[in-house]
Amino acid sequence: MFKIKIIGAGQLGSRHLQALKAVKQPLDIQVVDPSAASLQVAKERYDAVSTEQAHQISFSTSFDRTDGTDVAIVATNSDVRRKALESLFDASETRLLVVEKLLFNHRADYAEIESKLAETGAKAWVNCPMRVMPVYEQIRENIAATPISYRVTGSQFGLVTNAIHYIDHVAHLCGCTEFELDTSGLDRNPIPSKRPGFLELNGTLVARFADGSRCEITCYPTGAAPVVVEIFNEKNRYVIRESEGKLWHAGERSKWAWLEQAAPIPYQSQITTEVVESLLSTGDCGLTPYATSVRIHLQLLDPLLELVRSQSPETTGYPFT
Ligand SMILES: NC(=O)c1ccc[n+]([C@@H]2O[C@H](COP(=O)([O-])OP(=O)(O)OC[C@H]3O[C@@H](n4cnc5c(N)ncnc54)[C@H](O)[C@@H]3O)[C@@H](O)[C@H]2O)c1
Repeated sequence: MFKIKIIGAGQLGSRHLQALKAVKQPLDIQVVDPSAASLQVAKERYDAVSTEQAHQISFSTSFDRTDGTDVAIVATNSDVRRKALESLFDASETRLLVVEKLLFNHRADYAEIESKLAETGAKAWVNCPMRVMPVYEQIRENIAATPISYRVTGSQFGLVTNAIHYIDHVAHLCGCTEFELDTSGLDRNPIPSKRPGFLELNGTLVARFADGSRCEITCYPTGAAPVVVEIFNEKNRYVIRESEGKLWHAGERSKWAWLEQAAPIPYQSQITTEVVESLLSTGDCGLTPYATSVRIHLQLLDPLLELVRSQSPETTGYPFT
């Protein structure tokens, strides 16, 4: 039986847990969260999924010292993630990790955890799942490794917490991880995040990539405009409306006629099934390798912290999750 841990069983952790239920390999799952209420909801969500698989599962408010862990999924918020990872490393030798974004609130944590991973030989990936969604991978095949224009627009969707997904996705599509962030189009006054204790920003964020690709993300402070993702290069144009599960494509091959196509976006409770199966069978998965994600995180978060500090100089860490 493979030993799996879910660390942090809140809104997202409980979805990762649901996904485990469908994993083909037999699992011994331990769910750790200091909140009994979160554990209760996670248990209800797990029980609500019916599958053929009969995994072992236990729920705990603290870490027990255990033998090796094959895969740990760390889905706390960013402010306690380093501590949660350290508790995990103290409790159990861990082979493979999936860590939620945004990774950490303090710059030093990124390198500290990288050293810890090197020291223990653990391999980690960051959960930026647009990289593994079939519909986006199909687009990648058509625009392979050329500079692209990428634009996201919508209302009140959480610009900073989601910017990492889109910037990571551009890095994946164009094969380039170096970019400069332009924060001049952002509203300078942060707003509270929907996750208590964290901040968000509205306005327009631009990432200019070293290969010429450009990612522009606009979050309107009001209204209910659904999020639309547009991906263009000189030979193809895509418009993706995730909430409707549809995309439109025009390109040289269609003589620039627009064609509509189904674009189902899988839930986290589906994505993690395949990620964990792949980790267990091959020791690898399609999510963002930790070191690559650290580079992307810091190029995003440092300029955003500078912007927040221009209004609130006492801010010391990245106040986002
Ligand atoms: N990758 C994605 O697509 C995606 C989507 C949504 C959220 N997220 C990220 O996931 C993270 C969590 O978001 P959420 O909405 O689930 O938050 P949440 O507040 O619902 O859940 C966080 C959980 O962590 C628990 N926790 C706190 N300290 C802990 C510790 N030391 N050890 C173990 N558990 C601890 C809390 O009790 C809580 O249950 C955020 O950083 C968010 O940005 C990622």
